[in-house]
Amino acid sequence: MAGERLAQGLAELAGERVDHRFKGLPPDAEGRTVGELAAERRNLFRDGFTTPVLALSAESVAHNLALLETYTERHGLAFAPHGKTCMAPQLFARQLAHGAWGITAAVPHQVRVYRRFGIDRIFLANELVDAAALRWLAAELAADPGFRFVCYVDSLRGIELMDTALREAGATRPVDVVVELGAGEGARTGVRTGAECLELADAIAGVDTLRLVGVAGYEGEVPDATPERVTAWLRRLVALAVEFDASGRFADLDRIIVSAGGSAWFDAVAEVFAEVPELSAPVLKLLRSGAYVSHDDGHYSAVTPFRRIPEEGALRPAFRLWAQVVSRPTPEQAFLNAGKRDAAHDLHLPRAQVVRSGRDGTLRPADGITVTGLSDQHAWVATERPGDLEVGDWVGLGLSHPCTSFDKWQLIPLVEEDGTVTDYLRTFF
Ligand SMILES: Cc1ncc(COP(=O)(O)O)c(C=O)c1O
Repeated sequence: MAGERLAQGLAELAGERVDHRFKGLPPDAEGRTVGELAAERRNLFRDGFTTPVLALSAESVAHNLALLETYTERHGLAFAPHGKTCMAPQLFARQLAHGAWGITAAVPHQVRVYRRFGIDRIFLANELVDAAALRWLAAELAADPGFRFVCYVDSLRGIELMDTALREAGATRPVDVVVELGAGEGARTGVRTGAECLELADAIAGVDTLRLVGVAGYEGEVPDATPERVTAWLRRLVALAVEFDASGRFADLDRIIVSAGGSAWFDAVAEVFAEVPELSAPVLKLLRSGAYVSHDDGHYSAVTPFRRIPEEGALRPAFRLWAQVVSRPTPEQAFLNAGKRDAAHDLHLPRAQVVRSGRDGTLRPADGITVTGLSDQHAWVATERPGDLEVGDWVGLGLSHPCTSFDKWQLIPLVEEDGTVTDYLRTFF
């Protein structure tokens, strides 16, 4: 049934009309469905797309999906890719087809999107204390016995709020929860001490509406992270699972969940999770990387674990934002028509990679061309030589941070190496 809902949801996306809501798409495609436009296999550079337009490399995404499938399999990890990165059901479907156990969410709205597309295993890597969202969740769990949902707990007050809302909603199934262990002093959410973890586990056991199924946390928030600090924190997380189990706090479970892992430290997660001893039930070692799917040309290129383990492969940056030179007021300055509305800018500025001549479409490296700032709708560019750029040229920009690249685009062309657009990814932010 879940598979059918996903297939139906994807068919609905293919049936959506292309129009003014979707920037960058060809004006003459107005009124076609996404499926019809994809079938035309237009060329990104020649067939009417307007700048700025964000392109996602079909080959690189396929490579990244396959690489993390291989990696998780090799290391005995289950995978719930973080869906908040792309919020693109078409990519969720591919992640599941590549062996993912389920999809991770950060907030209840994302869970609603996932459910609309029939995702039946959802790991909410966050606390959930919103009564209205809990009422909706209770109804969703009651309506679908196949729906598996897990979320974090890190406070007694949170347990009380969850219990009250679920009881008032007449919840028919307990909500599965994991205790979130904070990643250290000064880190984000999560319990700071072992004693508090035990106190929470007891409080969960004291209410009928919740069931303790494991432990989790996010090593990406370890303060001043080094491999040693991240590994030490992951060992604390595993020790907590062992302690809960030894003290009988995981009663009658078919699976105990131990979860960590974004896209910066999955090598450490794999190493430490390999040390998880036998517990009273099989352990679902759940990795939650999200950024890997598009990877990037900035932050994640710098922090990817594959720099430490090159023998296991390498992710490929999949985004290229194409913007056009609209003004060249001085020999040193050029302005592109893409700005903060179009490009991730929370970690680094975009980097000029390649120039496509506005005269004849030839490509050249973006030598001497530097993005120095972003306005809302403009990129400020410094050039070394007058001939580096002219009005009308297209500049291909590499981006830093997948999450804040996806969220600026609602329909993203999936583009093959030669410029052929094979599909369009719908996002829900
Ligand atoms: C709790 C949690 N888990 C997993 C992830 C995924 O990490 P990444 O974006 O590095 O893939 C994030 C990202 O912010 C997160 O906050």
